[in-house]
Order: sequence, then structure tokens, then C-alpha cells
Amino acid sequence: MTKVALLGTGTMGAAMARRMRAHGLAVRAWNRSRAKAEPLAADGIEVVETPRVAAEGADVLITMLTDGTAVEAAMLGPEGGLAGATPGCTWLQTSTVGVAACRRLAELAPGSHLGFVDAPVSGSKEQAERGELMVLAAGAPELEARVKPVLEAIARRTVWLGEVGAGTRAKLAMNAWVTGLVAVLAETITLSEGLDLDPRLFLDLLRGGPSDSPYAQLKGKVMIEGQAAPSFALRLAHKDLRLILEAGREAGASLPVLAAIEEKFDRAERQGRGDEDLASVIAADRGR
Ligand SMILES: NC(=O)c1ccc[n+]([C@@H]2O[C@H](COP(=O)([O-])OP(=O)(O)OC[C@H]3O[C@@H](n4cnc5c(N)ncnc54)[C@H](OP(=O)(O)O)[C@@H]3O)[C@@H](O)[C@H]2O)c1
Repeated sequence: MTKVALLGTGTMGAAMARRMRAHGLAVRAWNRSRAKAEPLAADGIEVVETPRVAAEGADVLITMLTDGTAVEAAMLGPEGGLAGATPGCTWLQTSTVGVAACRRLAELAPGSHLGFVDAPVSGSKEQAERGELMVLAAGAPELEARVKPVLEAIARRTVWLGEVGAGTRAKLAMNAWVTGLVAVLAETITLSEGLDLDPRLFLDLLRGGPSDSPYAQLKGKVMIEGQAAPSFALRLAHKDLRLILEAGREAGASLPVLAAIEEKFDRAERQGRGDEDLASVIAADRGR
């Protein structure tokens, strides 16, 4: 039975843990705030005190944490994941950390004799719960077979993209698209309201046409009706926009629209909406 250590049981990590357990994998989970991980015990997941204990004896160690700083906090130090991991274990790094942090994290792995797979995921809470994520994987080809049981549990599709770093770059491109779509959708709804049009009419006119998308319908509905639990927190989308702009600067890519969108997310976060779904970016327009 494949033994998995999972560091981070937030929105995505908790859903992935349940999928892996349902697929028969042995899962040990750690979360900084232990109380958030406790409910997983009812699903047969072992909740442990430290990343080190989670990592001991694991075939695959997964990090699913906020950003590069959080991953370093969980992996380094005497109680960190690297201290517990057995040589030969494969580190599947699924958090969205950006280009610079991905490079830093990949450099940590060889010192502990771990294989490193750069494996950010596309898809949100709902896809994670159904085991239908898309994994943008990059790493040494011999690691593919080792992480296969995990990928079969969490993903509908895994794309192997080459050397470490390629997964992270693809993820940033995907999230440039997603955050751009959400920002323009928010302004279209704000415009509709300003023009005394029912924003539902706009979504209806869009439906089924060549420029429609399931995501626009989903998030448009949330913008109009609100949503209790966030699928993708606004603060995380804002973090990704900062990582996108940083990567763009490094690559010499001109991104003025994404820079303006980052400011919009920044305004919404400063309005106290960071923990809400990214659809709440519409508040940055409405609140003006
Ligand atoms: N949600 C989505 O739709 C989605 C989709 C694709 C990719 N992602 C990416 O996946 C990652 C996780 O997203 P999520 O939605 O699951 O986020 P989340 O619900 O906010 O969970 C974040 C996790 O990181 C932990 N954490 C934060 N700072 C830490 C630190 N300094 N040390 C140790 N642990 C720390 C949190 O622990 P506590 O519980 O103690 O705070 C929690 O376990 C992010 O990189 C995100 O961008 C998210």
C-alpha cells in the first residue's frame, strides 16, 4: 500500500486526503492548526503532530500549502518534513509557489535524497473533492511511476511537462487566464448593473455561445447571489497575481492588464475580503 504524507489540510489538502484514502492509500496528515485536520480522522486518515512524523516512512510526501514560505516552514527544521523523510521518498509539491520559490524548494530535495516533482494543480475545491484535478507535473521521468497511485486518486488528468519549473510556469499561465476572466466578469456585471440591466441577462446571453465558459457561469452566479464557503480564496488569487507579475518581470513580458487586475485584487483584499471566494473581487468595483 502506498504510504502518503500530506502537509497542509486546507481547502485543497483536506479534499485530496479524502480522495487518496478512498483510493486505498495510507495517509498521514499534518496541519499547522491541528484542529482543522482532526475531522479527517473519521475518514481513516492519521492526523499527526509534526511534519517530521508525517514524513517518516512515506513513499510520497505532498505539500499543499499557501506559498513557498509556508512550504519552507513545513519542510525545514528539526520537526520539518525533510527531517523525517526516508531517502527514496518522492516529494510532490502541489502548492502554487511561483518560479523563484519552486527553484529554491527543488534545491532542498537532493540533500535529503528525495525525488522532487513540481506539481501544481488546476481545478478548485469541487474538482479536488471529486478527484478531478489537472496536475501540471514536471520532474525526472523515473518519478512518474512512484507518484502514479497518488495522481490516480486526485487527478482526472496529469500532464508531464519536462524539467522541474515547467509545471509552475504552466500554472502561472493558467491562473493569469482565470484571474483575468474573473476580473473582467466582475466589471461586466458592474457595468450591467450601472446600465440598469439585470446581470442575470448577461449570463443568459453568454450561455452556450462561443465566448461562454463554465467558470464564467459559476463565478458570475456567485458574484450576483453570493456564496457561503470559498472555493478559491481571494487572498490566494491575489498571491498568484503577484507571482505572475514577478515571473513576467523576470521574463521581460509586458503585462499591463494583469498589473491593473492585481491592483483590483489588492483593493478587495484591503476591504477585508481576503478569505472570501475570489468572486468577491467585484467588491473592489462596487465599493468605490
Ligand atoms: N483553492 C483552490 O481553488 C486552489 C486551486 C489550485 C491551487 N491552489 C493552491 O493550492 C495551495 C493551497 O490552497 P488552499 O485553497 O488549500 O489554501 P488554504 O485553504 O488557505 O490552506 C492553506 C494551508 O497552508 C497552511 N499554511 C499557511 N501558512 C503556513 C505556514 N507559514 N506554515 C505552515 N502551514 C501554513 C495552512 O495552515 P493553517 O490551517 O494552520 O492556516 C493551510 O493548511 C495554494 O498554493 C493555492 O494557491 C488552490
